[in-house]
Amino acid sequence: MVASAPMQELREKKRRGERITALTAYDYPTARLLDESGVDVILVGDSLGMVVLGYEDTTQVTLAEMVHHTRAVSRAVTRALLVADLPIHTYDTPGDSLRSARELIGAGAQAVKLEGGVSHVPQIEAIVDAGIPVMAHIGMLPQSVREEGGYKVKGRTPSEAEALINDARAVEAAGAFAVVLEIVSANVAREISDALSIPTIGIGSGDGCDGEILVTHDLIGLFPWFTPKFVKPEANVAAEMRAAFQAFINRTRQAQPRPQV
Ligand code: KIV
Repeated sequence: MVASAPMQELREKKRRGERITALTAYDYPTARLLDESGVDVILVGDSLGMVVLGYEDTTQVTLAEMVHHTRAVSRAVTRALLVADLPIHTYDTPGDSLRSARELIGAGAQAVKLEGGVSHVPQIEAIVDAGIPVMAHIGMLPQSVREEGGYKVKGRTPSEAEALINDARAVEAAGAFAVVLEIVSANVAREISDALSIPTIGIGSGDGCDGEILVTHDLIGLFPWFTPKFVKPEANVAAEMRAAFQAFINRTRQAQPRPQV
């Protein structure tokens, strides 16, 4: 399949050595602000589960929830590439993965993302063969956090590094247009980025990737109860909100009561 324009543009950016920027959005105003800011990729991530819906992790997010939020984001996006996550157990087989991907595309996504490497080649091929672009996601896989027992760095041992390189090559060969490398040791992330012709988008994987993605709430300090170690927040929106809420509460309580009738 010939890559369509936005995917081809990301590949060109890699070739030119221009870093790719990607952030998450789950609602209309955030997506509109991101789109206007010039970010390359907006991801409706299943991190939705934690930072918006209040779940413990991504394993409870449903396709209906992803569709709902993808619709809201798609109303705002006119320029960036809009990618939506396939939630857990919606792509267990190639047939499931294609059906689920079509729902996200129907909600306005231009591409879908799924977690898995060698193990998910049939799913990636099924979606790509149907003309839907796929972003792969390898390394630490949040949908497997319960089996993994936490968010741990991947690629520290030679066997893990070899498995990751195999995963990266497999998703490229299967037709993915880009691959997220999540919490992969920096030297392995760099090696994978050098080995692939599709862009790598890192999260907590050092600065050797072709681009960088973050959960927007982490970047802007909108989820103050937990911030991953690798994130350097650029704002403290939670503090601004608390201050505004407090100002409203104070000014309302201090206002002259209306005379009794
Ligand atoms: O769900 C998500 O937000 C992700 C990341 C790569 C940021 O998958």
